Amino acid sequence: MQGRFITVEGIEGVGKTTNMELLRTTLTARGISVLSTREPGGTPLGEAVRGLLLSHEFAGMHEDSELLLMFAARAEHLNRVIRPALANGQWVLCDRFTDATYAYQGGGRGIATRRIAELEQWVQGDLRPDLVIVLDIEPAQGLARAKGRSEADRFESETLAFFERTRAAYLDRARQYPERYRVIDAGRPLAEVQEILRRTLEDFLA
Ligand SMILES: Nc1ncnc2c1ncn2[C@@H]1O[C@H](COP(=O)(O)OP(=O)(O)OP(=O)(O)O)[C@@H](O)[C@H]1O
Ligand SMILES: [Mg+2]
Repeated sequence: MQGRFITVEGIEGVGKTTNMELLRTTLTARGISVLSTREPGGTPLGEAVRGLLLSHEFAGMHEDSELLLMFAARAEHLNRVIRPALANGQWVLCDRFTDATYAYQGGGRGIATRRIAELEQWVQGDLRPDLVIVLDIEPAQGLARAKGRSEADRFESETLAFFERTRAAYLDRARQYPERYRVIDAGRPLAEVQEILRRTLEDFLA
């Protein structure tokens, strides 16, 4: 049987990586075989592209180049890792996916949604995540959490206004596709976020 595809989304420092771990252990405890991965990245080529995308060396990268690099990394990830795993019956958990492209390159950079949708269709065909968990937070709070952790990369160095637009684009998509999206208030203490996340996953499994 085909596995299910779950993605975790949200701006910098919202708690994606932290909460991926909870999802992974909850599913594994149920006997589900889980592949945990991330974007941009998830393959040797994808991780190399991620390095280009996050590096300050390319601070002046054109937004179209950024968009195409995201989808180049995604094509590799989908064809080499995600599709084979799903076909094998594994569940795939991905830390960011195409919703991040709509949010960052669409909302943040201002690229037209239509152009992103064309690339999405071209690279993914009809493949879409079965469940998208959007962790939502005030950008200032998310950035403060991210800063506590490491040096700011090329995205983390963006303005608060950029992250306001990114956040708004995530929330727009969640409103547009309510059957696939779940928005969780990630500004709460971690224990509360995880309790809500656990219930969200139970609902999805039921
Ligand atoms: N609900 C929470 N309350 C307080 N701190 C949190 C919460 N969730 C995560 N954190 C902390 O915030 C920091 C950022 O979390 P994490 O790395 O999971 O975020 P992220 O969304 O993966 O960030 P990035 O987008 O940069 O990868 C970590 O130090 C984590 O322990
Ligand atoms: Mg992370």
